[in-house]
Amino acid sequence: MSDSLLTRTKEAFWGLLDPWLFLQLSASFIPQTTRHIFSTHPFSSGLSILFSPSRFRDLWFGHFWAFAGPQVREGAGPRVLPLLDGRTSRGVVTDSPTGPGVGGVVLEVGAGSGLWVEVFSDRYLAPSRDDASGGGGGGGGTARTKITRVYGVEPNPAQHPALRRAVEDAGLQDVYEIVPVGIEDLSSSSAAAAEDKTTKKKKWDGNIEPESVDCIVSVLCLCSIPDPERHIRELYSLLRPGGRWYVYEHVLVEYSCVDISSAILLTSTRAIGFLNLVWPHFIGGCEMCRQTEKTLREAGPWAKIDLGQPPAEMWYHCLPHILGVLTK
Ligand SMILES: C[S@@+](CC[C@H](N)C(=O)[O-])C[C@H]1O[C@@H](n2cnc3c(N)ncnc32)[C@H](O)[C@@H]1O
Repeated sequence: MSDSLLTRTKEAFWGLLDPWLFLQLSASFIPQTTRHIFSTHPFSSGLSILFSPSRFRDLWFGHFWAFAGPQVREGAGPRVLPLLDGRTSRGVVTDSPTGPGVGGVVLEVGAGSGLWVEVFSDRYLAPSRDDASGGGGGGGGTARTKITRVYGVEPNPAQHPALRRAVEDAGLQDVYEIVPVGIEDLSSSSAAAAEDKTTKKKKWDGNIEPESVDCIVSVLCLCSIPDPERHIRELYSLLRPGGRWYVYEHVLVEYSCVDISSAILLTSTRAIGFLNLVWPHFIGGCEMCRQTEKTLREAGPWAKIDLGQPPAEMWYHCLPHILGVLTK
């Protein structure tokens, strides 16, 4: 086997191992989550949480993401910050804007623990900033306009305390509203129906009108939403004509078989189908096998689509990404 083939095969092997290591990391948070449940609830309600798959999964993901999320954010920052500045083209980060940046009324899908909240603050309007947030936008220009409102859609209550803190830390209390329901409950009729099971109160009183949103921002969350075809179409209907959807998402791996190492990875595509049987249970509902680009493209007519896989992404990546903007 030639050197380069050997190297590629080793890389393919590590690429395959990577998601398993992530699963193992997530599993290591089960004891901590269980201890937390019983230290903060009476024994009987602790038991009922333990035996409620959805409540336990939400809490577990909250603990896991508090650890893993900041590391993921650090890796994604150099892509997401330029994306919101309008500085990407076919998945490549550019020095100067290639289109408008984020601004106006924004809907952040799956806001999580608020790792991206501060990127909506006015300091990112400045053309050259020193990004001390760990993102590192590459020091390029920005085509952003002022953000007047952000709806941070996040259904997992275990994420809300951290999300609230992030909003306060960014000084965005007057701009950023936490919407404590899933995107499936955003329309007025379903929001009214979405009740908290314990308090029987409506989870959210608000409503987002069709075509009232200037920008949608989705960072690593369309993998976790239910019924993506239907709900991505619903989100599309909230965008105004000319509105933009800024996307950084992981998608189904698709390789062509050119040598033995890519054959290993091709096999891994099948393996990922198998891994995906357990993955969502360990990673807060995340699915590995979504064709999110296709679903976004088919959500409705777009005036412009500029998406691509970041070129710096290793060829053996089991969870490749798409980066870019769709304009309605
Ligand atoms: C992998 S996390 C990413 C969070 C955040 N975007 C980040 O980058 O840190 C995916 C998020 O999507 C959220 N999510 C799951 N189902 C959702 C739904 N139906 N509507 C909106 N968000 C959802 C999860 O609760 C979780 O916080």
